[in-house]
Amino acid sequence: MSNTVNIDWDKLGFDYIKTEYRYISVWKDGKWDEGTLTTDNTLHISEASTALHYGQQCFEGLKAYRRSDGKVQLFRPDENAKRMNRSAERLLMPEVPVEKFIDACKQVVKANEGYVPPYGTGGTLYLRPFLIGVGDNIGVKAAPEYIFSVFCVPVGPYFKGGMTPVNFLVSDYDRAAPYGTGAAKAGGNYAASLYPLLKAKEAGFADCIYLDPATHTKIEEVGSANFFGITKDDRFITPASPSILRSITRISLMDIARDYLKLEVEERDVPITSLSDFKEAGACGTAAVITPIGGIKHGDDFHVFYSEEEVGPVTKKLYETLCGIQFGDIEAPEGWIFEV
Ligand SMILES: Cc1ncc(COP(=O)(O)O)c(C=O)c1O
Repeated sequence: MSNTVNIDWDKLGFDYIKTEYRYISVWKDGKWDEGTLTTDNTLHISEASTALHYGQQCFEGLKAYRRSDGKVQLFRPDENAKRMNRSAERLLMPEVPVEKFIDACKQVVKANEGYVPPYGTGGTLYLRPFLIGVGDNIGVKAAPEYIFSVFCVPVGPYFKGGMTPVNFLVSDYDRAAPYGTGAAKAGGNYAASLYPLLKAKEAGFADCIYLDPATHTKIEEVGSANFFGITKDDRFITPASPSILRSITRISLMDIARDYLKLEVEERDVPITSLSDFKEAGACGTAAVITPIGGIKHGDDFHVFYSEEEVGPVTKKLYETLCGIQFGDIEAPEGWIFEV
């Protein structure tokens, strides 16, 4: 396989680039059609679509990685498919069969293969599956029709020139309600995060830390990523809560921490007053990969973990192992890798 597209791979960021093909499938009269690839990157939908008015939509994000042998692989797309179906169930949308989801992702990667960045550049092909309610409707109810689509964008490495810690601000805002849609990857959660994100950026931070919506005492999310911390006695800790998006990077890191790094792993409450228990902390997600957390500002306190300039050794090892598995340099646990 080869790279045939004229792109300066070293200059890639995380920006929309129109690639050649996207997959689109329509649900109508109770069933999905076959689905097809198209070069048209616009959608023509009813002005009365529920996705536009009532936020009946959800999405996913995953990446295709070029290996050193030139082949391309997906990382746990079945987990994204299952998560999208959990979001769809919460938002009263039809299920997309896991095989259909994976097949759509593979078709899109194959059709846009020239856009998969070369091995060694750190770049990847980011896939954006989404499911939206469409069709003529005006009342608050589920849509009569749905579109499932997957497009892709080549993206650069999250860190250019090495991993550097960033600082976060504990937000006064919530991203989720106790029995709301925090565990779903629903667009509305992200619309509600734009204002707190702007405020955090204006104050000089990379993003917000959101606390649990009921008591505002426990860490939930770090922007669009999950939190993890390494305790002084080398345990990998990550928050347990029903209103967190269950990060596929995080569930993978829990296995990597336990099986590759031989750390004890705990999913439990992380009180915002317990930051001094951790010698290192990070944010993890498909886009963020692993972002070391330098410090967290909470009220008048600013707590620094390992360092504001350097990444801690456990975080570094987690990062190297995760990326090694994703790019095919380290053997993955069974079932994690789907060759395209
Ligand atoms: C709110 C939120 N939390 C966590 C994550 C990380 O999840 P994943 O590792 O599956 O990308 C994401 C990104 O998808 C997110 O949007």
